[in-house]
Order: sequence, then structure tokens, then C-alpha cells
Amino acid sequence: MSSERKRVRKAVLPVAGLGTRFLPATKAQPKEMLPVVDKPLIQYAVEECIASGIESIIFVTGRRKNAIEDHFDSAPELERFLEEKGKSHQADMVREISGGLHFSYTRQSEAQGLGHAVFCARELVGDEPFAVLLGDVIMDGAVPATRSLMDIWDATGQGAIAVEEVEKARVHLYGIVAATHGNQPRWGDQLLRVNDLVEKPPADKAPSNLGVTGRYVLPPEIFEYLETLEAGAGGEIQLTDALKELAKGPGLWAHIYEGKTHDAGDKLGFLKATVEFALKNPKLGPDFRQYLRELKL
Ligand code: G1P
Repeated sequence: MSSERKRVRKAVLPVAGLGTRFLPATKAQPKEMLPVVDKPLIQYAVEECIASGIESIIFVTGRRKNAIEDHFDSAPELERFLEEKGKSHQADMVREISGGLHFSYTRQSEAQGLGHAVFCARELVGDEPFAVLLGDVIMDGAVPATRSLMDIWDATGQGAIAVEEVEKARVHLYGIVAATHGNQPRWGDQLLRVNDLVEKPPADKAPSNLGVTGRYVLPPEIFEYLETLEAGAGGEIQLTDALKELAKGPGLWAHIYEGKTHDAGDKLGFLKATVEFALKNPKLGPDFRQYLRELKL
């Protein structure tokens, strides 16, 4: 690794979306705060950042998202109350939510797309590489997905995105990559060179079935591409279109994540994630498994 190469220290989490796929639950509360078992959805992405060695989180937020700020802020009254009641275990749990990370917030005033949301973070990111995590995707595995991408950055000095094979019927919901073998022995077949990307193509026009899952490590040059972009698919400024420029210029890797990806961004995906995390939960898992058996589906 070159001594000049900057480390990835910051992560951008876009949370300004209106959560329309979750209505009516999201009429008055942010989608990101819906609990998956015992933690709000967004906490899974923050925990991935903590486990990856990220130091600072930038939320790109919007109206009616204050609950997210409160959740990651300290809560002295609550902590004191719990301590006084002898519930120090719960007090510790509340204290540890932020994991010692630094949090900052910037607003995306209008829903102009993911590319625009990331662009809103440019001043807080500055001139250094950074990660992007989409909070409605939970990536669960031995090595955190963001850490895997940071390792690729450290070794190559180029951006990297997580991808995985998606069913043909779901191809139109993803950014899809055209990629070839990466020829990087350390990663073998898991690392691909991105040649092109298309945002949400119809299945018969897609260059492959490799979908972009929602984890990115990007160089600061991405902001230059985002700045000049015209609206793309769905009339929005698409991060995928800027990634395409990055792939054609400085270069971009696609990493096939070894762990499991839960797309909790719609009701069915959310239910599946809830069931799987409940089964894995040390306290709830055994009883919940027994309950599912008794349902005799
Ligand atoms: C976004 C991205 C898309 C990516 C997807 C992953 O779309 O634009 O490229 O594949 O996230 O979840 P969204 O799901 O926000 O419409």
C-alpha cells in the first residue's frame, strides 16, 4: 500500500427517502427506525461501520427524520434513570449504540435520487475516500461488507462496490454491472473488474445478473462525476451513472460478498430479515424456532 494513500475513515448513509414502500408504517416515522427484532434497521448499517473501522458517519437526512439523530445521540436522562433502577446492563446497551463514532448530519431537501444524496455529503467528506451504505440492506457475514471493500481500496487505491447474483425477476430493481475477472489472486473469483453499469435495466437488456447491493467505497473524484450528471433512470441523479464514469476512468472493482445480503427495503424482505435475525438471536432464537415449528406450515 502506498504511504500516500488515504485511509477510508468516513461513511455516508443516505436516509432521506420517504419510505413509500412501507406505507402506512412510515407515514409519521422513518423507515430506518423500524425494528428488525430489537434494533432499528439503520443500526445494522452503523454496526457494520463500527466493525469495519469507520470513524465518522455522515447521515444525509431529510424532514421527519429526527428520530435517527436522537437514536445515535447520547441520552443522559435515560442512562441515569436506568442506572438508578439498577439496570446497568440496559444503560450500557444505550450507551454503546453510537460505538464511539462521530456523527454528522446534512440535509437532502428534495428527493432527487441516490447520486444527489451522496453529492450532498461532499463538504463533510472532503478530499478523501469514503464508504456509502444503504441502510435498508443488511449485510451479514464473518467479514463486514464495508471492511471487504476498504481492504480492496487499501490494496489497489481504486473504488469498489459489493455485488451479488440476483434473480432474473428482480434484475430491474438493481444497478447491474458488466464485469470481467479481476485477476487479483488475493480475491480469486470474488473480485471483478467493472466495465459498465446500468441502473435498473429490464431483464432482457441487462448486461448480467450481478446486482449492486448497496455497499460502496469511493474515491472523492466521484463528486466531480456527480456534479455534472444529468437526471438518469426514473428522472433522478443516479449514483450508478457516476460509477459508470469511474469504471471507465480511474477504474472500479466489484466484489462478490461472501456473507448473506438481506434486502429489508420492502415488506417481504423486511419480514424475511426479521425471521432470520430472530432465529439467530441467542435469547429469542430457541423459543421462536419452537413457535415456528408449532405453526405446522
Ligand atoms: C439503489 C441503487 C441501485 C442498487 C440498489 C440496491 O436503488 O440505485 O443501483 O442496486 O439501491 O438496493 P434503490 O433500491 O434505492 O431504488
